[in-house]
Amino acid sequence: MEQEFDFESRIVSSEYAPSDADAEVSLRPKTLDEYIGQEKAKANLKIGIEAAKLRGEPLDHVLLYGPPGLGKTTLSGIIAAEMGVNIRTTSGPAIEKQGDLAAILTNLAEGDVLFIDEIHRLSRSIEEILYPAMEDYAIDIIIGKGPSARSIRLPIPHFTLIGATTRAGQLTTPLRDRFGVVLKLELYTPEELATIVKRSAKILDIKITDDGALEIASRSRGTPRIANRLLKRARDFAMVRGNGAIDIEMAKTALKMLEIDELGLDNADRKMLSAIINYYDGGPVGLETVAATVGEEAITIEDVYEPYLLQIGFLSRTPRGRCVTRLAYEHLGIPFGQRRRPGDQIPGQTDLFGDGN
Ligand code: ADE
Repeated sequence: MEQEFDFESRIVSSEYAPSDADAEVSLRPKTLDEYIGQEKAKANLKIGIEAAKLRGEPLDHVLLYGPPGLGKTTLSGIIAAEMGVNIRTTSGPAIEKQGDLAAILTNLAEGDVLFIDEIHRLSRSIEEILYPAMEDYAIDIIIGKGPSARSIRLPIPHFTLIGATTRAGQLTTPLRDRFGVVLKLELYTPEELATIVKRSAKILDIKITDDGALEIASRSRGTPRIANRLLKRARDFAMVRGNGAIDIEMAKTALKMLEIDELGLDNADRKMLSAIINYYDGGPVGLETVAATVGEEAITIEDVYEPYLLQIGFLSRTPRGRCVTRLAYEHLGIPFGQRRRPGDQIPGQTDLFGDGN
């Protein structure tokens, strides 16, 4: 596989990287008022939390969905803190056996939040434990085997399940229907991200100008996780090349060195777009074909590359496949609608026979 498409190492990957750990924890807002952006989700949650508190009940189960890096885990921590309860965190793939989930559920305290990240990856048999747990605060345990097997119902504490997923469409209908509050997290605007960058800079004791923050924000693909990562890289750069302060020039030079362009695209994005243009005349081309062409998993293309490219109008999804738009051609400096003819050189590919075949 080509090294350039190793998205693990992409600084603009929205996926969580171990190097984000310390910064993410300390930069995470602790209250809804501190949490910037996602106004619709916040307004819904504020009402829900206040009403639940007035009734003296746990909050209804909440499903958070949207692209990675937008603060689903952060928001769950805030919900628990605002409700004044503890949060227990796990993930779909980490729960392997029915007994694992039963143990977690029976150990919760009254009112606690159970956060299940990547909830779409729960197996069906485990989902079945969740249904009565969510609906009736009970789990059904089978005792014995064969004809003498019987089921007993075990009560569990009243709790709030917060499920997070990048793909709500993959949840089974019975599971999705059991969430009382379903919230979609949206990509952030550059202005919101600039506010987040300035907040993070203050916490990390980094000097940054307003336009320096906006420059980083505009190249962060709508994602706070990326904005915070770029802020830290720009700080390194500013410390080595300057006096540690980030102004717009320093931000621009640092981002140029990281090969992130004015819109936040990196080499991997540009190569994917060029591949669709060069090999498939800009599309439509199926997702699996794009994935095979760039040597990446289809799910990574969908979750990590596409949300931002769709948002900025560089890519469109049609029933027949993905299409690169005129805007993307212009950004890449390729004349729109220019069809490749046999014999034309494809950038990056050697014409082995010198005859265009
Ligand atoms: N850090 C990461 N996401 C954030 C957000 N939405 N608000 C404030 N700080 C953040």
